Amino acid sequence: MKILVVGGGGREHAIIWKLKQSRNHDIYCAPGNGGISELAACVPIKPTDIEAVAAYAKRERFDLVIVAPDDPLYMGLVDKLQSAGIRAFGPTAQAARIEGSKVYAKYLMKKYGIPTAEYEVFDDFAKAAAYVKGCPMPVVVKADGLALGKGVVICETVDSALSALKEIMLDKMFGEAGNRVVIEEYLEGPEVSVLAFCDGKTILPMQSAQDHKRAYDGDKGPNTGGMGTFSPSLKYTDEVRNAAEETIIRRTVDALNAEGVLYKGVIFFGMMLTKDGPKLLEYNARFGDPEAQVVLPRLKNDLLEVVEAVLNGTLDRITLEWDDNVAVCVVMASGGYPGKYTKGVPISGLNNVREAVVFHAGTAVKDGAYVTDGGRVLGVTALGTDIQDARKKAYAGVNEIFFEGAHYRTDIGLK
Ligand SMILES: Nc1ncnc2c1ncn2[C@@H]1O[C@H](COP(=O)(O)OP(=O)(O)O)[C@@H](O)[C@H]1O
Ligand SMILES: [Mg+2]
Repeated sequence: MKILVVGGGGREHAIIWKLKQSRNHDIYCAPGNGGISELAACVPIKPTDIEAVAAYAKRERFDLVIVAPDDPLYMGLVDKLQSAGIRAFGPTAQAARIEGSKVYAKYLMKKYGIPTAEYEVFDDFAKAAAYVKGCPMPVVVKADGLALGKGVVICETVDSALSALKEIMLDKMFGEAGNRVVIEEYLEGPEVSVLAFCDGKTILPMQSAQDHKRAYDGDKGPNTGGMGTFSPSLKYTDEVRNAAEETIIRRTVDALNAEGVLYKGVIFFGMMLTKDGPKLLEYNARFGDPEAQVVLPRLKNDLLEVVEAVLNGTLDRITLEWDDNVAVCVVMASGGYPGKYTKGVPISGLNNVREAVVFHAGTAVKDGAYVTDGGRVLGVTALGTDIQDARKKAYAGVNEIFFEGAHYRTDIGLK
């Protein structure tokens, strides 16, 4: 089968690696990266140039296009592909609003009784400012639209809430995404990510994962795209899972149906496990990155069969099967990330990694050798009989790899 995967990070590398584990499909990737180019033909088209992606997919007669990142989904790439008669995996623009608009997501949660933080929506700065003055602290301020994972501010004081509102609503730090804000109650508890395949009727949750958002050990430093993950989460016990599946996951599909939205693809549930039970923080309309890097290696099914079942509406005939091993992914980032960093730094030692798979997030090939090409560079992923074993193997891999300025957390999986 001739497949195009849209995206170019560690998540896309993991998706392609997983597809190739089952069969030697003919895979292309737009734009891909250095590591992906070992498994797929990389084509230099930007995922956000949805016209160009659709035209390319049509011209090259792909049997299937998998759209992995949020922007092209929200911009309507799947709609475009579908109207050109190309099978595309991922939600339509309308369905992707569960991620693209936090106001819409909260509206769904409230209307259909999905447990979430209490909140108010504002499109007027003065009213929002007056409201936060009466809120207990901390309070959470969220830009409505996509903001590269930077549109959420946890505010300890009224002053910091006011400056977050100013930056989002008046200075338009995230452009149109800040036309509206959600101001919500601060929730406490461990955070768990659950991905699920959805064909519009049936929803099949995958195994849980936990991310490490902060740059440094002990959850210190600025937020990042994710510095590492592990799966499964021990906090996601059977009891929590039953509650989450009933009150959050199933209710979401029912809510979408009631709203007349057909959702086909992956839904990511970002949950906070509070003392009052699991509450939903947000949806993503896609595989998480780096959650995919620990969940997909544990999935025993042929990924393509599951994808086909989503497209055909036959997910009720699939049972997901899981490897009992634990997976750990340690992200190696460029020096300076998530701030300024340089690209083009040579990477060595990749061939010495024995017991881990290295998913490339931001690499390129230059003169036949790998160089860094992004903030997050590699995701070193290992399976083990328990978390200690998986950590040992992943960090043994990390220790073989060198690039100037590399930084990574040493505590992935210890939470
Ligand atoms: N109500 C809340 N209470 C406590 N922490 C929150 C709350 N909402 C979000 N967060 C924290 O902020 C992070 C980012 O928020 P999220 O809603 O996932 O937006 P995004 O991923 O689009 O930036 C979450 O992963 C969580 O750690
Ligand atoms: Mg999030």
